[in-house]
Amino acid sequence: MQGVEWALERGLSGHGADYAERLAAERGTFAEQEDVHGNLPPSAHRWSARHMVPKLHELGVESIGSLIVGEIRSRAREAAEHGRDAVVLSLGSGNGDQELSWLETLAADGVHNVRVRLLEINHDMQERAADAAGRLGFADRIEHVETDFNTWKADTEHDVVVAFQVLHHVLDLEHLYGQLREGLRSDGVLVVHDMIGRNGHRRWPEALEVIERIWATLPPELRRNSITGAIDEQFDDIDCAVDGFEGIRAQDVLPVLLEYLHPSFFLALGNVIDPFVDRVYGHNFDMDDERHRALIDDIGVLDDSLLDLGVVTPTRLTALFHPTPRTLRAYRGRTPQRCVRRTDVVDPAGRVSFHPAASDPQRLVRGSGLAVGRCNGVLHDRWVGRGATLPLRTTAEVDTVELEFWVPDWMPEQGTLTVLVDDTQVAALPVEHGLLHRTVPVALAAHTTAELTLRADWWVNPHAAGLGEDRRTLSYVLNGVTLR
Ligand SMILES: C[S@@+](CC[C@H](N)C(=O)[O-])C[C@H]1O[C@@H](n2cnc3c(N)ncnc32)[C@H](O)[C@@H]1O
Repeated sequence: MQGVEWALERGLSGHGADYAERLAAERGTFAEQEDVHGNLPPSAHRWSARHMVPKLHELGVESIGSLIVGEIRSRAREAAEHGRDAVVLSLGSGNGDQELSWLETLAADGVHNVRVRLLEINHDMQERAADAAGRLGFADRIEHVETDFNTWKADTEHDVVVAFQVLHHVLDLEHLYGQLREGLRSDGVLVVHDMIGRNGHRRWPEALEVIERIWATLPPELRRNSITGAIDEQFDDIDCAVDGFEGIRAQDVLPVLLEYLHPSFFLALGNVIDPFVDRVYGHNFDMDDERHRALIDDIGVLDDSLLDLGVVTPTRLTALFHPTPRTLRAYRGRTPQRCVRRTDVVDPAGRVSFHPAASDPQRLVRGSGLAVGRCNGVLHDRWVGRGATLPLRTTAEVDTVELEFWVPDWMPEQGTLTVLVDDTQVAALPVEHGLLHRTVPVALAAHTTAELTLRADWWVNPHAAGLGEDRRTLSYVLNGVTLR
């Protein structure tokens, strides 16, 4: 996983000197922050009202607050039947303001058997939380766990764990998720509301390409950088993980979580919109100005289309996770697997990136569908090695995939080409020399996204085999994939 390698390179895994420095920077950042979510630009509120809230509603959820309170309430009622308190753990709980508001809402509903544990390393924040709890009369309902979540051990059973804008600060995700799995009751839930984009909240290349094009159309007043005060000719793709833990392994938050717990509710969204609603540039947009409003709305619509087409992957997640598998309620086609930005997708230069316009420059995919992401493993001259993956979007119902490929006579070995759709094998085709046409039955509905994988069990490195100068691993030339 790229994030782990990245952390290792920086000497972070052993929690050494760099770790201590980052922790000090992180403490410094939050010590004075009395309002963690303050100073969000009005464009952020407009975007979430128009692009996030309606999606929550479509999934039957009123708001993120009500999702969290609902999960606590149902478990508290269950716990009350057994004469016990429901135990809630809030990770990186900051000033504890949200946690106290959950207790207030629940108390107003007559639910009092809830204890909230605040796991937060920052002493100043813990003190502010303690003061507020005292003022509101909840001191006996709050427990302060002033420790580091990268080393914390699950010390009791939890009914609900809440990770609100915090997993993107975690370095040892594997440790933390392991402890959460250990400490969650079998019917318990982890509520996640977090950032899941690239490390340091940077843009993946496919998103940067779109943002830079939008940038080129913006008047100077919309390109003012609130940190430097300068008008940025180029969009400044800041790496927020340079010193503290902001976005330190953001890109691993979701894929690693899926290895530990099982989702039941899943709403993932946002990407290209991010710089236009953040604290660096977002304040440039005046929501009383009709043109600015229209721009924010249009970028929001564009973002949704890019996400649904699989051109970009989401940077924000609201979800519920459990120790055992559950029925999944996901927003339309945005399933957890499709929302992971794959880091094994590399371009010919070996970069973890792809160029959106280059997803299928050779028009390999034809008929009732198209390639909507990089065709990984298909080289620029259509040679394919052992494995290739083609992200497809159907435009009509598809019941056959026709493959046309060529195995030259000089290929020393032949074998079997295995075809998979979304990781399920649909054919194992015996392959000989020559130009080959093969028809594979599949069952794909119209307007769905699917991944076609081709695996060859034969290959040659022509240079090593004394067959020429080409040093690549080659199996066959793919002429076309036609969806019927
Ligand atoms: C973005 S804030 C979110 C705070 C709170 N959940 C909220 O939404 O208001 C991230 C929080 O994680 C805490 N944090 C960062 N690193 C931590 C660590 N290693 N252990 C425990 N808490 C940590 C920070 O002090 C900060 O309060």
